[in-house]
Amino acid sequence: MSTPHNSAEIGDIAERVLLPGDPVRAKVIAKNFLDDVKQYNEIRNIYGFTGKYKNVPVSIQATGMGIPSFSIYVHELIHVYGAKKLIRIGTCGGMHQDLNLREVLIAQGASTDSSIVEKTFGGAINFSLIADFELLSKAVDNAKKLNVPVKVGNVICTDRFYNDYGAENGAYSSGGLTLNEKMIQHGILAVEMESAALYLLAAAANVQALAIFTVSDHVVKKEYTTAEERETDFNDMVKIALETVIQK
Ligand code: HPA
Repeated sequence: MSTPHNSAEIGDIAERVLLPGDPVRAKVIAKNFLDDVKQYNEIRNIYGFTGKYKNVPVSIQATGMGIPSFSIYVHELIHVYGAKKLIRIGTCGGMHQDLNLREVLIAQGASTDSSIVEKTFGGAINFSLIADFELLSKAVDNAKKLNVPVKVGNVICTDRFYNDYGAENGAYSSGGLTLNEKMIQHGILAVEMESAALYLLAAAANVQALAIFTVSDHVVKKEYTTAEERETDFNDMVKIALETVIQK
């Protein structure tokens, strides 16, 4: 059985899935890191591949950008195809001063301006969106083994790439602080657009999920990597994710 968005048949997709946003990156990762690769989806050019990493079946499913697109693919991966361990690999915008371009960041928690939590719980609680502890601790161990320094902490998952959170007269600035400054003061390290949905969908279905990022730009320092740099900078994060997703 396929879905309107994914032509994979049941059994075509592994229980262990990496989730890049960019379909081209999914293709490059499958080609460079997996053996025996089979492409199972090209609907809307949102490619999906299954192959083997160190003899363990792993799928790489692109998701597109933002919570709505991401949630379609991840919901189907979990509820139609039986995915059990899902690791998002993406880029983020650094916010904290300590975060530098090309660094790897693991989202221990995901704060969000999206209403998905409110819609799920009817506004009764502010449910904490958190990483799976086992995947998180394994990813930190694997990063050490691979000699890749990583930062671990809270990120802001936003519905709007172009928001006014850094503007002094922005809708949410108060007490002399912009919303970005307030978030940084509270330990938010970076901004991205999908992790809250991943952690919420995983919690609802009792499956394991983790989000790992490479810092592609810094929203406060106004620094940016080029598209070419992003291709190579990605590799450390992919290795951490693959080593972590195949562990028992
Ligand atoms: N904002 C939101 N999402 C992102 C960014 C950003 O600056 N960089 C990479 N993903």
